[in-house]
Amino acid sequence: TQCISEISRVKNLNRLIIGKHEVEAWYFSPYPPAFAHAETVYICEFCFSYFISARQLERHCMHCTLLHPPGNEIYRQDDLSFYEIDGRKQKLYCRNLCLISKCFLDHKTLYYDVDPFLFYVMTVTDEHGSHVIGYFSKEKESMDQYNLACILTLPQYQRKGYGRLLIAFSYELSKAEGKLGSPEKPLSDLGLLSYRAFWSETLVEKLINFKGEVSIEELSHMTSFTTQDILHTLQSIDALKYYRGQHIICLNDSVIEGYYKSLKKNRRTINPQALQWKPPH
Ligand code: ACO
Ligand code: ZN
Repeated sequence: TQCISEISRVKNLNRLIIGKHEVEAWYFSPYPPAFAHAETVYICEFCFSYFISARQLERHCMHCTLLHPPGNEIYRQDDLSFYEIDGRKQKLYCRNLCLISKCFLDHKTLYYDVDPFLFYVMTVTDEHGSHVIGYFSKEKESMDQYNLACILTLPQYQRKGYGRLLIAFSYELSKAEGKLGSPEKPLSDLGLLSYRAFWSETLVEKLINFKGEVSIEELSHMTSFTTQDILHTLQSIDALKYYRGQHIICLNDSVIEGYYKSLKKNRRTINPQALQWKPPH
């Protein structure tokens, strides 16, 4: 029996078709048994309903009226939007999203109990509708100071800076709440790479642009990062020095150079002014 259960947990689908994109699943996801051996799962890119054939999906699309995620649009800047969706109110949508998400996450167990979470879904809008790029979930109440439970950029949009925007947005929410936050542990390899990059870029930017002395607590206050995440990050870029009997923060030339190089990439950022949101209570 052990053998059977192990087999059933092996990656069970090969391909997902989401809108006009075709992607390979990375891990097992608990789609219903009828899909377990399907070579391809056809997914409606707006409501995330799933089908076993292209024909079934086509038929669905003739009736599906959704052109953007359900829930409140709480952020809009140019073509980029965020929607806040309550897992309790939009159970099916959130479960369907978790099923997709599990295809790219090895260690998360969240699929069915979506009630305790809010989902922040990021879209890019064109003349056909608002296309989901990625999302993160967040516990309505976290005992552990977590401000993000699960994050995903759909594979077709990865490595374009969207993960950074999702992470930045999660900290904007924490700032609006007046709280510190950190992502739920353990992080995946890709999660850790993305967070490390985000934390160090943000801190280096603050340190370069801040005139005068600044403490870890002040950095924490400015960014909503926990002091632990700040200390780890500063250590990892070798910015914590001990000088004449005092701990100081000091950036190497290579780190500073890296910062000016990254400015040239002209990345999209989150504009805090475009957030229309009050912390839910
Ligand atoms: N290889 C090396 N570095 C990477 C990679 C990679 N594959 N992916 C991200 N990074 C680092 C880079 O420094 C990158 O900056 P750069 O492109 O300027 O070099 C930085 O992270 C940010 O990259 P983005 O393009 O903003 O991130 P992306 O949109 O690809 O999303 C994410 C990152 C969400 C982690 C994505 O890889 C993903 O969805 N992975 C599958 C699901 C997952 O593992 N989620 C995290 C689980 S942990 C948790 O949920 C709390
Ligand atoms: Zn649909």
